[in-house]
Amino acid sequence: MTVYQATASAPVNIAVIKYWGKRDTKLILPTNSSLSVTLDQDHLRSTTTSRADPSFDHDRLWLNGKEEEIKGDGRTATCIAELKRLRKEVEDADSNAPKLSTFPVHIASYNNFPTAAGLASSASGFAALVSSLAQLYELPASPSTLSLISRQGSGSACRSLYGGYVAWNVGTDPSGVDSNAVEVAPREHWPDMHALICVVSDDKKGTSSTSGMQRTVETSALLQHRIKHVVPQRMADISKAIQERDFDSFAQITMADSNQFHAVALDTAPPIFYLNDVSRSIIQVVVEYNRLSLANGGGYKAAYTYDAGPNAVIYAPEKNMKEIIQLILNYFPQKDAFKDTFALFKNDKAEGKLPAGFNKNVAKVHQAGEVRNLIHTRVGDGPRKLSSEEALLGENGLPK
Ligand code: DP6
Repeated sequence: MTVYQATASAPVNIAVIKYWGKRDTKLILPTNSSLSVTLDQDHLRSTTTSRADPSFDHDRLWLNGKEEEIKGDGRTATCIAELKRLRKEVEDADSNAPKLSTFPVHIASYNNFPTAAGLASSASGFAALVSSLAQLYELPASPSTLSLISRQGSGSACRSLYGGYVAWNVGTDPSGVDSNAVEVAPREHWPDMHALICVVSDDKKGTSSTSGMQRTVETSALLQHRIKHVVPQRMADISKAIQERDFDSFAQITMADSNQFHAVALDTAPPIFYLNDVSRSIIQVVVEYNRLSLANGGGYKAAYTYDAGPNAVIYAPEKNMKEIIQLILNYFPQKDAFKDTFALFKNDKAEGKLPAGFNKNVAKVHQAGEVRNLIHTRVGDGPRKLSSEEALLGENGLPK
């Protein structure tokens, strides 16, 4: 008997122009365009196996081995229904195509980074789910078409359908057809972009993106200014910076947009705080690092950005990463040894060090573990098709 099964992996993306606000909460249509860098799946990824079988009782989903309910009107159910609808079109056009659209599916998904790492997994998770079902159903759909579906799982997930540098168009159509992801540039265009994720310890449960952004839409006047008068120009400017591999402009726009996102969070009633003291200290360190370079006639060397939480992502050209890691290790000593993904510290120990002329008083040295983990990665590729060896479902159609 034929087994209808496919396995895909999809990357994490971190926005440099932030998505924050929906004009349609069901279809997940945003109030502004956004732009992100896709991170390397060699380091961070979600993997999903989907299987269609007439003997299955109903659609089921397992996340990291634990079964999750698929709610009837929920986001996962919407994505599965959309993909089955596209499969039905394939079957209607080709009477030989097996009627997979009528079979229930089992879906198992796994993140290679712990949820406790404090990184959002919904973007890579929905992108992997959509990619694996699209492969299972042999859909003749472009990543851009698939992005329309993953968008309905989680807005930021639409951008994980491409590698490299990716824009999500705000669109104007009420149906959402023009609110898709598009590739601004593949990773090969500017492979030098590296990223250091600083996972900041955080005990309190923050406001989720979904509810937080809705409150901002309802109460922030600053958000309206951002949507109308700031984001359109920034989208054009950062796209140009990427085309020209102009890190100076990229860095300035990235930091300004992170700052404004956290300003609209603060402008929300009641206010939302995502940054904490550690996040702010990392900002001071990056600012001083850039000041020193500019004072010596150089350009910007690093750019920070923060999502809906205290973790920093520092984007920088590869050649600056060793210095940046030493800077961070100086102010934020680690409990565990630094995982040296790119073998930067082959000849010397990974430990704190400040460049000559750096004003050490911009931040205090924090206690070990306040930055819990450092992940060094870089710009990466889009969703991958994986072999059956990497499947997460066993022969019986249940998670291995
Ligand atoms: C701050 O995509 O998680 O990371 O669409 O409600 O699922 P939903 O929200 P989500 O929001 C991400 C917000 C952000 C900025 C960004 O990724 O652009």
